[in-house]
Amino acid sequence: MPDLDGKVALVTGGTRGIGLATARALAEAGATVVLTGRDEAKAKEAAQAAGAAGGLALDVTDAKAVAALVRGVAKEHGKLDIVVANAGIMEDALLGMIREELVDTTLSTNVAGTIHTVQAAARAMMRKKTGAIVVLASIVGEYGSAGQTVYAASKAAVANIARSAAKELGRSGIRVNAVAPGVIETELTAGLSEDARASNIGSTPLGRLGTPEDVANAIKFLVSDDAAFITGQVLGIDGGLVL
Ligand SMILES: NC(=O)c1ccc[n+]([C@@H]2O[C@H](COP(=O)([O-])OP(=O)(O)OC[C@H]3O[C@@H](n4cnc5c(N)ncnc54)[C@H](OP(=O)(O)O)[C@@H]3O)[C@@H](O)[C@H]2O)c1
Repeated sequence: MPDLDGKVALVTGGTRGIGLATARALAEAGATVVLTGRDEAKAKEAAQAAGAAGGLALDVTDAKAVAALVRGVAKEHGKLDIVVANAGIMEDALLGMIREELVDTTLSTNVAGTIHTVQAAARAMMRKKTGAIVVLASIVGEYGSAGQTVYAASKAAVANIARSAAKELGRSGIRVNAVAPGVIETELTAGLSEDARASNIGSTPLGRLGTPEDVANAIKFLVSDDAAFITGQVLGIDGGLVL
């Protein structure tokens, strides 16, 4: 099991789903974890459930708030080793039904929010010339999906945030990778119809949908020293769905 003893980690969007499972996995591996959500009470409750050191309010669309929070966490804990830019939203819309507001909200949360988080993380990690960042892409961003043009565009951007930041930050000892989950059972996918669930399971060689822990365990590996020579990768966690 990757040993994260002594590491300080921040997980955005840690109040439920993949973010909560990731915060718990990193804490169980020995890291001091701070998680965030838009509502402070929910973040504190999730932090307690995950065994995290703290839960803070943060809207990742607010660049100044992201910068201040990341600086604050690094100051309070003396450093910042790991950042998981997990906060994200998904709303489906066929092309003819896409509203301007959906484009704005999705891009400002998934794309701008991830950029703000990676930028703030890089600034905090630069001084010690070491760190590991993971961002949340999606198989939809890699392969596309009918009814998900906006979400797919946002997640393709996230994968390229990882690749570009990895190229830029490698010489500073900072690794940046993305995970690209398939269909994971969280609130985000709770609206899937029974037909869609069955169809996804039928197309998945491993014969099931993913769990938040499936993704959390891959993230735990990517941020650990076991992945010391891995950067700029987009790791599929999809049970083979895209094969
Ligand atoms: N589930 C899947 O099948 C799947 C597949 C591929 C990729 N992903 C990606 O994995 C990530 C987590 O997904 P999930 O399934 O765990 O989703 P989820 O259960 O809906 O959780 C999303 C998290 O993001 C937070 N969040 C949303 N908007 C935010 C904002 N503006 N600022 C700060 N936090 C915000 C939410 O916190 P609050 O609401 O408490 O603020 C919540 O903690 C997302 O980036 C998603 O796109 C998921």
